[in-house]
This record gives sequence, C-alpha cells and structure tokens, in this order.
Amino acid sequence: MNRLTIVILAAGQGTRMKSDLPKPLHRAAGKPLCEWAMMASAPLTDKKPVLVVGNGEDLVRAHFGDRVEYAIQSERKGTGHAALMAKPFFKDSEGLVMIIAGDMPLLTRETLKNVYDAASRDDVVGALLCAKVDDPTGYGRLVTNYEGYASKIVEEKDASADVLKINKVNASVYCIKAQPLLESLENLSTDNAQGEYYLTDIVEMLSEKGERIVPVLTDAAECIGVNDRKQLNDVSKILYGRKCDQMMAAGATLISPESTFVCWDATVENDVTIYPNVMIQGPTVIKKGATIFPNCRIKNSVICEGATVEQSVVIDTVVGKNTTVGPFAYLRPGSEIGENCRIGDFVELKNSQIGDGTKVSHLTYIGDAEVGKNTNVGCGVVFVNYNGKDKFKTTVGDNCFIGCNTNLIAPVTLGNGVYTAAGSTITKDVPDDSLAIARSQQTIKQGWKKYRKDQP
Ligand code: UD1
Ligand code: CA
Repeated sequence: MNRLTIVILAAGQGTRMKSDLPKPLHRAAGKPLCEWAMMASAPLTDKKPVLVVGNGEDLVRAHFGDRVEYAIQSERKGTGHAALMAKPFFKDSEGLVMIIAGDMPLLTRETLKNVYDAASRDDVVGALLCAKVDDPTGYGRLVTNYEGYASKIVEEKDASADVLKINKVNASVYCIKAQPLLESLENLSTDNAQGEYYLTDIVEMLSEKGERIVPVLTDAAECIGVNDRKQLNDVSKILYGRKCDQMMAAGATLISPESTFVCWDATVENDVTIYPNVMIQGPTVIKKGATIFPNCRIKNSVICEGATVEQSVVIDTVVGKNTTVGPFAYLRPGSEIGENCRIGDFVELKNSQIGDGTKVSHLTYIGDAEVGKNTNVGCGVVFVNYNGKDKFKTTVGDNCFIGCNTNLIAPVTLGNGVYTAAGSTITKDVPDDSLAIARSQQTIKQGWKKYRKDQP
C-alpha cells in the first residue's frame, strides 16, 4: 500500500478564473479545489501527496504547509512537463504513481480506488479514468484497441473529424507503474497543436510498446473540471448537495437542502434540524437535537445537544446543552457558553466564558471575561475591556445581577451574589453579596422650566 505516490497537478495558470488567487486555492464548497483530490486519494497511501505548483506557489505553500510535498513547475509547458517535475518523488519507486488533475473536485474515493485496483493487476502497466459524455467538447478523446485497452488520447485541438465524434473522454486520472511512466514522461515531445508536453501522450507511447492500460469508466458527472467561476459554482453545488444527502442519511432534518451549505469537515448529528439559509464552516460539530434556525453562519464551533441558534454568527465558540442563542447574536472566537444559558438579541461575546444557567438577554457586549453560573446580565451592559492600548479581563461570580446599562471597566472582579445598580460604571472590585452603586445622585430642580432661556 505504501508504494503508491500521488501526484496532483496544480501549476496551471487558471486564466479563465480571472483572479489574483491561484486556481488550486479557489474554494469549492469551502475547500481549496486541489484539496478534494487530496482527500479522495488519501486512503490509498500513507505517503504525503506531491503537489505540482507554479503560479502563486507562495500562497499554496502558506495554505498546505508540510501536509504535502511540493514539486515546482516554474514554466507552464503542459501537463506532461508538470508530471515530470514530480520525478524526485518516484524516480526510485517500484510501485505505482497516480497522477490527478487538481481541478477535478468531484472525484470520489471509490472511483480512485477503482483506478488503483485496475492498475494493480499484474498483466497491465496501469489504468486511467474515462467517462462517456453527451458533449465531449474540450476533453481529450480516448481511443481504445481491439482488446479494449487504451491505445491513445487525442486532444481536441489535434483531433480529426472522426476522432472528434468519440464521446469517451479522458478524465485526467492516471495510475501507472513508476518506471515505465518516468521513461515515457522523459520522452514526451511538444509536437502537437498546442506546442506543449501532453501527459496524455504517454498512453500511446506505452501502448505502442505492447503495454496495457485499463480504461476505468466512471460517471460523467464526476469529471467536471473547474476552469471558470461558473464551473466552480456547478461543482460547489454538487459537493454541498452530497454533504446534505450524507447528513439526511445520518438522521438530520434539512428544511431546505438547496440553501443549506455545510462544509465537508463539519459533523451534524442525528435529530438536528437545519432551517434555510444556513452556512456551517470548518470542523464544526452540531450535536444531537440541536436546531439551527434560518440565516446563521457557524464556523469552527460546537453546538451542543438541544441548543438552538437563530439568525446569528458563531465563530470558534462552544454553545452548551439546551442554550439558546439569538436572534442576532455575534459570538466571536474563544467563547464558551455553558448549559441552559440564554444569549439573546444584539449580544456580542468575545473570548469569554459564561457559566451554566446565565442569561445575557439583550444588547450587551462581553469581551475577555469570565462570568459565573446563574448570573443575570441586564440590558445594555458593556464589559469595557479595552483602553485603546491594552485589553483586560473582567470576572463576574455566580448568582450575580448586573443592572441594566452597567459598565464594567476591566480589570475588575465581582464576587458571587453581587448586584450592580442600573447605570453604574464599576471601576473597583466588588466583594461577595454586595450591591455596587456607581452613578451620580439624581437631583430635582423644582419649577426649573420657567427659568429655561429658550422657552417654547
Ligand atoms: C486535460 C487533458 C485532457 C482531459 C482534461 C480533463 C492534457 C494534455 N489534456 O486537459 O485530455 O480530457 O484534462 O479535464 O493533459 N497543469 C499544470 N501545468 C501545466 C499545465 C496544466 O500543472 O503546464 C495542471 C492544471 O493546473 C490542471 C491540470 O494540470 O490542474 C489540467 O490542466 P488543464 O490545462 O486544465 O488541462 P485540460 O485542457 O483541461
Ligand atoms: Ca481542466
């Protein structure tokens, strides 16, 4: 198993994307295009995949780090030249090399496994993936010999009228024994309509030597390559749709799968209900029985059993069991909310812990704080954590009652059972079970109206 080398071609210009971002980093259903092929091929080997990069190399490296090996193609001379750049990673291999175009995010694990299995036969040199399509425009056409093995691939620009009629096309996945592959790659020429080193030419070279290449047929829908934004959207829809199908099969209710966008890495447990217009990103976990009402964005977060989130943005946050969030809450990174809490409308939380049973019902900002259990934070409370230069922490104990429109000027600590009078600006620590009042006394100027200068 360890002998398989995966090579993903991702050095193309991606001109038709009309973008400053290199094509392999454009996201389909939340993941960079070339990462889909990486994921689908990962179970076949424990070697890191080799990513052939060129255009925008720095950005690609910044994204993938050391999860992959890099082969650099500094000039775009065609797919055959790109594959040859990965030579250092398979030149001494006695095993197979699987080359995959990095712009085909719909390829599945099963399909790549089928190609690998076919290529593993002792009587063949390798296998390639192909599909029967209604409209073969733009694809290389696959020509087979009398035994049914691949004998050549003809690129559209080089094809005769007869060949153009072939509707079996090359899907750009090849799995070939390393040494014969290397020999063919090193002998490619640019003698073709586009003046490029075509990877596809290895098929005819090997076939002419009497080697057999098995064509593995797959569904045409799996072979959509992404060359422009329209195709990016087409594949994204299909990938999000696959995730929705998977979630429903696992017992989630989706009110509108067409407007439910859940990234591949997210986990949605059974008896979760997701309403329309929801986007769930990153490795988020939505636990059993949680409900996500319309118009939410939830990223890298955990929503625990029975919790509800409505019209809110939740990022890098844990929402405890049976807690309700929103409508219109903004939970920013680093927050952890306990069980049975209420985080209501226009509440913003950042890097804060909220204990079980605590209620923050409306119009409040809590930043860099630790709030205990069963505390009530009134309307319009501001945890003043920033003095324009540094940020400070606020601690509030259990069973407190923070009056409406209180400012807690950090650093400040309130013990357990503390009350603050509405409108207070609290600058000093408050001991357990005390009431803090920090506001000016009300004065009444009786009959003042008649002294007013601009009398109406
Ligand atoms: C290629 C195939 C074609 C097949 C089609 C399927 C060749 C010559 N043709 O055509 O038979 O039907 O895919 O989608 O291979 N790349 C590099 N360096 C280069 C050129 C390309 O890394 O110099 C990468 C691209 O980033 C891309 C992949 O190779 O991920 C395929 O290149 P692309 O130009 O899209 O090939 P197609 O014209 O689609
Ligand atoms: Ca392509």
